Amino acid sequence: MTNFSEAKEEVKKAADIVEVIGQYVELKKRGQNYVGLCPFHSERSPSFTVNQNKQIYHCFGCGKGGDVFTFWMEYHNLDFPQSLKDLAERYNIQLPQKRDLYADKKKKELKEQLFKINDLAGRYFHNILLKSADGKPGRDYFSRRHISQETISNFRLGYAVKRWDGLLNYLKSKNCFLDKAATAGLLILKNNKEYYDRFRGRIMFPIFDLNHHNIGFGGRILDDSLPKYINTPETPIYHKGYYLYGLDSAFENIRKRDLAIIVEGYMDMLVLRQHGISNVIATLGTALTSDQIRRLKGYTKDVVVLFDPDDAGRKAALKSFPLFLNEGISAKVVVLPQGEDPDSFVNKHGSDAFKKLLERAAPIFDFYLDQALANMDTGVDGQIKILSEVLPVFMQLEQGATRFLYVHRFAEKTGINEATVWEELKHQEGKRTNERDISQLKSRFSETQDPRKYGSDLQFINLLLHYPEKIDTFRNQEWELIVSDPEIITIIKVIMEKFPSEGNLDRVEEFLDSPAAKEQLRVILMSQPFYSEESVGQAVSEFEKKIAKVKISRSIRKASAQGDMEMLNRLIREKQDLDSNSKSVTKPKQDEKFLSN
Ligand code: GTP
Ligand code: MN
Repeated sequence: MTNFSEAKEEVKKAADIVEVIGQYVELKKRGQNYVGLCPFHSERSPSFTVNQNKQIYHCFGCGKGGDVFTFWMEYHNLDFPQSLKDLAERYNIQLPQKRDLYADKKKKELKEQLFKINDLAGRYFHNILLKSADGKPGRDYFSRRHISQETISNFRLGYAVKRWDGLLNYLKSKNCFLDKAATAGLLILKNNKEYYDRFRGRIMFPIFDLNHHNIGFGGRILDDSLPKYINTPETPIYHKGYYLYGLDSAFENIRKRDLAIIVEGYMDMLVLRQHGISNVIATLGTALTSDQIRRLKGYTKDVVVLFDPDDAGRKAALKSFPLFLNEGISAKVVVLPQGEDPDSFVNKHGSDAFKKLLERAAPIFDFYLDQALANMDTGVDGQIKILSEVLPVFMQLEQGATRFLYVHRFAEKTGINEATVWEELKHQEGKRTNERDISQLKSRFSETQDPRKYGSDLQFINLLLHYPEKIDTFRNQEWELIVSDPEIITIIKVIMEKFPSEGNLDRVEEFLDSPAAKEQLRVILMSQPFYSEESVGQAVSEFEKKIAKVKISRSIRKASAQGDMEMLNRLIREKQDLDSNSKSVTKPKQDEKFLSN
């Protein structure tokens, strides 16, 4: 090979774009193209398109696109020279050796160095576990945990001796740069002069990226002392929220089975693998992130997550719910019997029992709701707690049908009025940046939740839209006095002006200009009626009374400003009548007469 453009062409010929991208994105043939879910932005229906003839890709959703090199650079976050090198290696194409090929040479070299050091350390830990007398505690530990020789060798498990200088001395003997080993997170520099081992007296789990580079380690202590796990800190090659333990050895099976199983622990993953469950991966001691989910979705859109059936598990499930949903992944949850984790469960009951559990996996939101309801305090306090827990999650859901469906389901299951949930959601989004104030939520909550107080704009418009026959009642009343939300006022104005002349409420949207008002209208139309058939009559009279009260208050202010005492007395009496009538169920005639004025 003489020059790089030649090499590039060579690589392009060998590296079929569908094959390369197909390793990371699930592609389906559609007409001339292949389509899949874009790995570069959140989407639920595929707009990421690959054209084999032209060897290009383009996402109609986010606009990203290019050739096989662009994809490699974007996906792996690498520069061009490194991408050329990677792809050339993959397809056995020789590159010309030229020193200045790499723009970001230093960075790349550092990464390569760190991979090498980790690899060296990984082999060292592994060999100690297998062969050294010092490795006995590790061997005993793995055998106690029923980890087989095969698993130990497949996953290159190891043992770090209980010394400050075990790895240190080894690396010295290999003439390794100690500062680089510290950058890799293996050594720690003390008082700016001496290095010591980060991992001591721990069994070691090396972590690999998809290219089988050893990027970091997890280390577990053998007894009950703390911390139970120590992991590689963030380094130039290790980011815990980005990688998944075991993905390198699972992704093909995940694709084949069209299902990924996510567990929390290293041990859980290993033991399940040992029992023949090959499509399992583990998070690295953190809550699931959208980066991790995005990595996964190239292989499958079906995920089962194992959460503990406790408070923490419930919250973790709730947190990950919008992440999955926004990536178009349908996640389910399996709950193990109390006190079991996947590792203890399969060891006790075998993999068939585990597979049976998988079949009974519940959609993640249902799992959350069931858990939350089972633990919910009774009464309004319980409802407020669950609402405050769930609101931030709803806010993360993209607006539209999905959000609607989940809010609907939530309201149905918790018995919290749907209008209240929407109102809270709207309110929260108005002040997205501020911390939520529970006490404020509490006072508004009881106001809107109590069906005897028809205070809110949403409830009023909900009534008009679900009981259009009542619209006429309010047409000639000063309804604006009891509605403050400008969008809702806009919608009601349209209803009052166009109905029944337009006849069909479905067309109200056509008369609205602002997208916010349109969305608001759709949400109300899709939500349940706030009032039942039986209570709607009373609701109408309550709203009328509310208008009347505002009107009287206005008149009282006017009369008192003018010093008209006679008028003032009359008005105050009227107001008192109105208040005392509030308790009667049937509407008094007197009110009606007064109100129709
Ligand atoms: P075993 O107790 O050996 O079965 O380990 P486990 O993996 O089941 O542990 P556990 O369920 O307690 O924790 C699950 C995962 O959370 C672990 O695999 C770690 O990734 C992480 N983790 C647990 N404890 C710690 C800790 O003390 N520090 C850190 N950084 N991570 C931890
Ligand atoms: Mn465990």
